[in-house]
Amino acid sequence: MGEEFPSAHAGTQEWPAPEHGAGRPQYPVVNAHNEWDPLEEVIVGTVEGALVPPWDVAMEATLHRRELWDYYQQFGGTPWPKELVDAAEKELCELVGILEAEGVTVRRPTPFDFSKPYATPDFEIRSGCHASMPRDVLLVIGDQIIEAPMGWRSRFHEHHAYKELCKEYFIKGARWVSAPRPQLSEDSYVAGFEAPNEGEPMRTVLTEFEPLFDAADAIKCGRDIFVAQSSCCNRLGIQWLQRHLGEGYRVHEVEVYDTHPMHIDATFYPLAPGKLLINPERVRRVPEMFQRSGWDILECPEPLMPESHPMFTCSRWISMNVLMLDEERVIVAKGEDTLMRALRDWGFRPIPCSSYHFASIAGGFHCATVDIRRRGELETYF
Ligand code: ALA
Repeated sequence: MGEEFPSAHAGTQEWPAPEHGAGRPQYPVVNAHNEWDPLEEVIVGTVEGALVPPWDVAMEATLHRRELWDYYQQFGGTPWPKELVDAAEKELCELVGILEAEGVTVRRPTPFDFSKPYATPDFEIRSGCHASMPRDVLLVIGDQIIEAPMGWRSRFHEHHAYKELCKEYFIKGARWVSAPRPQLSEDSYVAGFEAPNEGEPMRTVLTEFEPLFDAADAIKCGRDIFVAQSSCCNRLGIQWLQRHLGEGYRVHEVEVYDTHPMHIDATFYPLAPGKLLINPERVRRVPEMFQRSGWDILECPEPLMPESHPMFTCSRWISMNVLMLDEERVIVAKGEDTLMRALRDWGFRPIPCSSYHFASIAGGFHCATVDIRRRGELETYF
């Protein structure tokens, strides 16, 4: 061994030169410190083989559209309608085409059969779901990939779709770790939980029995990582992340209001140095450090997706779930013209891409991807 592979601390000089940017410094194979350094390599999820998530205890707490819950109860664990999957995969192909045309290397998950039922000593479930949203599963911070301790039982084995890629990145020098595997027993969830109605105090389904978070509950801004509690992220999860990352990082809890909270990236999103995009309905208090450091607080305009559009998994605010290719280029959902105009006014260059079918059964561009390598260093912005 040892001969064939670079050692775990091989240093940056061993990595192949980035394809774009001759003469620039070279970076480790996994290197992502924020949301906006120039993107070189990314994983894009897939809806091939995607199943309707089987109904389970955490779903009422995280899915906004109550009128669609019956659908889950009836069809959970079976494939989504083929026309919808085909239309969503076509949109992902458009996304891949745009990324490659912009010079980004795109990797895809390994096909994985999510249809098998599984059981642990603490729970059993009819099936897994999909490999549509790598952002939820893998938290990439610096040169490390953290497998998230996810809050849905049906996503317990979703990491498997990314194991081949993770092994490859590990062999090439990345750090790779799994947060403590959760038990997800009855003790992890509030018994008899009912999601609040709009205006009622926010509450989440998770207890503090064990650390839990989805990777998309956190968003990076150099040495500062922002996390919001949700129905898949509890306080112990946030504490675990802070202690795991150590003194080089500050993990901040953002105060949000959401009746069905799940993930921070349609709520609070540092897009570029000095530019924070917020969901005006959800962010209750922008952490003081942003004003103190002179950041512009950009309120995301009301989404244009029709209210009637079927959204099984997320809300219309998925419009703000954009993907930054660098400090200016940003991939935005086709149809969200108000947001595109606002982004232009704020100094960005929006690149439209179709996504409404993918949004129906999955999420936005940030959800659909996970940054593997951006060209940049760990910095402080406050
Ligand atoms: N759960 C987030 C939303 O629907 C992504 O807005």
